[in-house]
Amino acid sequence: MTTHKAPLLEIDALTIDVMTAHGPRRAVDGVSLVLHGGDTLGIVGESGSGKSLTLRAIMGLLPKGVIQTSGRIVLRGVDVATMTRRQRRAVCGKDIAMVFQDPMSSLNPVMRVGPQIVDGLTARRHLSYRDRRTRAIELMSRMGIPDPDRRFHAFPHQLSGGIRQRVMIASAMACEAALMLCDEPTTALDVTIQDQILRLLAELCEQSGTSLLYVTHDLAVASQVCASINVMYGGQLMESGPVADVFRSPLHPYTLGLLGAMPRVEHGKRRLVPIGGAAPALGELPAGCPFAPRCILAEEACERGRIDWRDMTDGRGVRCVRPLTDAIAPVEDQR
Ligand SMILES: Nc1ncnc2c1ncn2[C@@H]1O[C@H](COP(=O)(O)OP(=O)(O)O)[C@@H](O)[C@H]1O
Ligand SMILES: [Mg+2]
Repeated sequence: MTTHKAPLLEIDALTIDVMTAHGPRRAVDGVSLVLHGGDTLGIVGESGSGKSLTLRAIMGLLPKGVIQTSGRIVLRGVDVATMTRRQRRAVCGKDIAMVFQDPMSSLNPVMRVGPQIVDGLTARRHLSYRDRRTRAIELMSRMGIPDPDRRFHAFPHQLSGGIRQRVMIASAMACEAALMLCDEPTTALDVTIQDQILRLLAELCEQSGTSLLYVTHDLAVASQVCASINVMYGGQLMESGPVADVFRSPLHPYTLGLLGAMPRVEHGKRRLVPIGGAAPALGELPAGCPFAPRCILAEEACERGRIDWRDMTDGRGVRCVRPLTDAIAPVEDQR
């Protein structure tokens, strides 16, 4: 893509440490991402790989005792480190909407849900309340919320988990922000509802040109809403590329493992094939590739030291000494 406009979001060599009783431990290790307007990008990896901290760092929302030690986060060409707290909050409020896993953490429990969505319609302040209300109900209806006129007046606790989640996504969409950051917003939901929400989210993003940075442990979910995938492990990016390419021919053995761990229907039953071993705990990361201890293809070079990122063709990249190539059969054939 040859655009001379500054990217919407640029994360450059982001490093985040968690302070522990035994000193600082690296949780995010040199993560770089670029997101242009309209891009939909997934960050995928097992629990503990550093996805949520990466996302929170963008908003300046790192928890206490967790520190960004190096790297830059650049929004529309401006390094957020040079912004005052106030400027940052203004930019984040206007340009970025965030959706979390737990809707109760971002919905006001003592306020009816409709007015909360109306409040989110910040770009439409010039409209009358009546018009904004109509627009909020329209959004609820597009989110597949049945009977939105009636539910407009409900309090969050009066709604089911699935409806609440949709209300939260609707209020995030209401902002018409340029970028939506999602942290596993559908993980707690029933698979059917999850599918429905993901479809709506993808559709709404496409219609309004909203960019998406979507964090999930589930590669299948990311593939539903994102055009490209970034695979994280042990705080590092392992692989990135367009969804279809990553699925067709993963370059990193970890990605191949994740694909193998995707639930699939066999003889009418959902079956999960996991990767052997467990994800490393903070502070137990090896000197070399963090995945080496679990990698069936690991060799001596993998354990010697940090593995360099390699840019490959067609917008792909991988951090592996010996990336998988076409010599390895496509995943479908191995099932
Ligand atoms: N507030 C915190 N205090 C201490 N450790 C944390 C905190 N938040 C995250 N961590 C640790 O940092 C690592 C990355 O966490 P996180 O970004 O939440 O992973 P993910 O979202 O991929 O599951 C994990 O090992 C986690 O235990
Ligand atoms: Mg997380």
